[in-house]
Formats: sequence, C-alpha cells, structure tokens
Amino acid sequence: MPQSFDVRLDDLTGSCPEPESGGSVIAAAAPGARTFYIETFGCQMNDHDSEKVAGVLLGRGYRQMESVDAAKLVLYNTCSIREKAAQKVFSRLGTFRKHPDHNKIIGVLGCVAQQEGEEIFERAPWVSLVCGSASYSKLPELIAQIEGGNRRVMGLDKDTDETFETEITRRDNPFRAYLTIIEGCDKSCSYCVVPFTRGPERNRASDSILQEVRKLADAGYSEIQLLGQTVNSYQDSSPKRMSFAELLVAVAGVKGIRRVRFTTSHPRDFGQDIVDALDAVPELCDHVHLPVQSGSTRILREMRRTYTREEYLEKIAMIRGARRAISLTSDIIVGFPGETEEDLADTISLLDAAQYDGVYAFQYSPRPNTDAQHMADAISEEEKGRRLALVQDHQREIQIRRNDALIGESFEVLADGASRKAGQWSGRSSSNRILNFSSPQPDLLGQYVQVRVTRAAPNSLVGEHVV
Ligand code: 5AD
Ligand code: SF4
Repeated sequence: MPQSFDVRLDDLTGSCPEPESGGSVIAAAAPGARTFYIETFGCQMNDHDSEKVAGVLLGRGYRQMESVDAAKLVLYNTCSIREKAAQKVFSRLGTFRKHPDHNKIIGVLGCVAQQEGEEIFERAPWVSLVCGSASYSKLPELIAQIEGGNRRVMGLDKDTDETFETEITRRDNPFRAYLTIIEGCDKSCSYCVVPFTRGPERNRASDSILQEVRKLADAGYSEIQLLGQTVNSYQDSSPKRMSFAELLVAVAGVKGIRRVRFTTSHPRDFGQDIVDALDAVPELCDHVHLPVQSGSTRILREMRRTYTREEYLEKIAMIRGARRAISLTSDIIVGFPGETEEDLADTISLLDAAQYDGVYAFQYSPRPNTDAQHMADAISEEEKGRRLALVQDHQREIQIRRNDALIGESFEVLADGASRKAGQWSGRSSSNRILNFSSPQPDLLGQYVQVRVTRAAPNSLVGEHVV
C-alpha cells in the first residue's frame, strides 16, 4: 500500500493502489533464464502499467515469479509523486549493493525512471534498464537489447505511446479491468511531477476504447475502470468526438458490462453532463473521486488548480443534486508553502461542507521540476505532520458518522475476496465501499450479492449476505 494516507474508506479513492485478489499467474519455480519479478509502487495507473509490462513479458515466453530471488529479470515500477515514494525504490535497489547478483537484470520503470533518467545508472550501477511509461510499447525491443548483452538500456520518450495498451495485457483481477483512456496530463498544478514524468495529455480514440471493452466483456470482465490522471478531461481523438459523459454511457452499454468506474476526475472539467449520465445509467458506479487539494482559494491559486473554493463547492452541490446518492472522495495536501492557520481552517471547514466518504490526505512534498519546489515560506515537516493529523482526525469523525448511518442499509457487492475464515467474504459496492461480510453460501467469488450492513468502522463496513 502506498504513502502517507490514513483517513480513508479502504481503497475508496482512485489515486492510490489497491490490493487485488486472484487471477494472476505467478510461478513458484527455481530461477530460470526467462523469469521476471515485478513490484509496483504508487497509483492505479502504475498498477495497470505493470499489467501491461507483465503481458509483454509473458508474450515473450517469460514466467512471472513471486520473489526477487526466483527471477532473472527484476523490475521496479516506481512512483515519484512524493519524495518518500521515490526513496522506496532506491532502498530496494540498495539491497543489491549489499548482495550483488551478477546473473540478474535489474530494471527501473515508471515515474522515477522518467524523472532521474541516466542518473539511476550512476546511483545504482547494477541497474541495466531505465524505462518511463510512455515507452512500454518499446519494451520488447529494449529487453532484446539487454538479452543481446547491452547492460545499459533506456526508454525515456514522453509522448510516443499512442497505443495505450501493449499487445498483451495480463490483468491481475479477474472481474475488474483497468483501461487507460487518457495518458499524461496537461494541467500544471505547481506541486505535481506528473506532467513531467508522464508527459503531455494523449487521448485514446473512442472506437478503440469501445472495441477493447467489448473484448474485455467477452473475456468475462463485468467491471471496467477507466483510468486517466484527469480522466474527465477526455477528448475523443476520433471523428466521433464523443464527450466523456457520452463515452461513459457507451462503455456502460456494452453487453456484459455491469459496472463502470472512472478515476481521477479534475474539478474544472467536471460538468452536469456527467451527473446526468450517472443518474440515467445504473451501470455507471455511484462514486466520484474529485480531489480538492485545499479548501483555501488563496492556496488553490498558488497550487494552480484553476478553481476557487466556491467553484469547487458548486461542483459538489451538482453531485449532491443527483437523484441517486453518489459517494464522494477526495485528496488533500497540507503544508503547501505559505499555508497559514486560516488556510488550514478553510480546508477543515471544507471537509464539513463536502461530507466526503473518504479522503487521502498528504503532507506537501517538494518535487523536482515543479514550480512549487522553490516557493518561499516552506512549512516544517513537524508542522506538516501536526496539520495532517488535524485533517485526518476531523475527517475520521465525519466518516464515523456517515458510516454509522449506513447500518441497516443493503448494497449490491461484487464478491472478489475470500477470507481464510470459512464463510467470510469481501467485496465492493457500486459506491466503492469495501464490505466484509458473512454468507452461508459456499462459492461467491465473482458474484454480485446483496449485503446488509450490520456494523460500521471509519474505513470499512461489516455485513451479512441477504439470501
Ligand atoms: N506532495 C504531496 N502530495 C502530492 N500529490 C501530488 N503531488 C504531491 C506533492 N508534491 C497528491 C495530490 C494528488 C495525489 C495523487 O497525490 O493530492 O491528488
Ligand atoms: Fe498532477 Fe494536477 Fe495533473 Fe493531477 S491534474 S496529475 S495533480 S498536474
């Protein structure tokens, strides 16, 4: 699980990764020439990128191993959104300094690769592959070079990957398929490395998306999660010029698809048409992840979020005005340079106004290649920690109240996890709430079942299968 978030409904938001259940084909054999191990850090986009990489390698005859020791090719798919996340990969790489294994090929993929480039070879000379996300379609070529004896290979293109999916994608979850519809980001939030690490925005054509959704439905997936850093900024690159809301409706209309999710939405591009689509089409999940980042208009301006507190709250009012109840989650950054006590109070009062069902709260982390990196009035780490705890404690209270109010309600849950304890299952509601529940029925995996909530915690719900 990722970085510094605490206040959340388990895995409710779209910005952070999730544990997956079942489905992956991981071998447990002795190290062989064509074996790989991949560890993923960061967001769902990274999870999905690792699925693409695994697909490419499996297609070339590699087998996936469950430990570093068992694999010849060891890949780290990295995240650099906050410094702590970026440091993780260097601590992983550090283990090879202590225990060098000259038979292994070590690769760094993703945002740290894109950010640090050649530097990685200097810091960790035992690394032979450095590859950013826009170059994954070139991986077969790069790996062939390594197999041919080249010990330092790089793929650091920024905007060349128009295919979105690699030839083969090996999906981890047998029920829910991630699908990238927009890559990169054209917004320029002053704190964020993503436009630098993932490059400019590239949109996938709607007909190609729909074709893939039909394939996924035929392969048995019933839930589709559309991915993009700013997923609702989608602009169809085909002559059909479908809007994002129209695309949602079209994806939901594919035979066999029962649930459609999308993350992450940017408030500026969130319009009434999306709410109308959610109201009209039951297959569209009733959850919106709409990161606010701060409740202070002054800080939002410094962050270059392109909306004010009031404009954000208007979007919330629009979502609350829907005929169906829509679960709302958000991301918040505390301790942005120059953030005053008053700004912090604005963020806390926004929590009251928004009534989120989950919040990922982070301490601001200065990142290379961002405008905020050298801003004046930095807040000390200790003070950031204090502010984070205030936000988290406040949100926890809100979630306790909101979740308590759900006791007695029933949700349709896709059972996608079994506990070791007999008769205990877990799954998600359309609103992306995690429910742990008991059932008298034997095998529920992959089934949609009604679950009545019997107990509530701040971050999860407990219930029983209504048979
Ligand atoms: N410091 C702290 N949090 C950040 N995020 C993005 N950049 C930073 C940073 N430099 C958070 C934002 C974003 C989430 C994915 O990570 O809240 O929505
Ligand atoms: Fe980063 Fe802002 Fe783009 Fe989100 S919208 S990925 S926070 S630059």
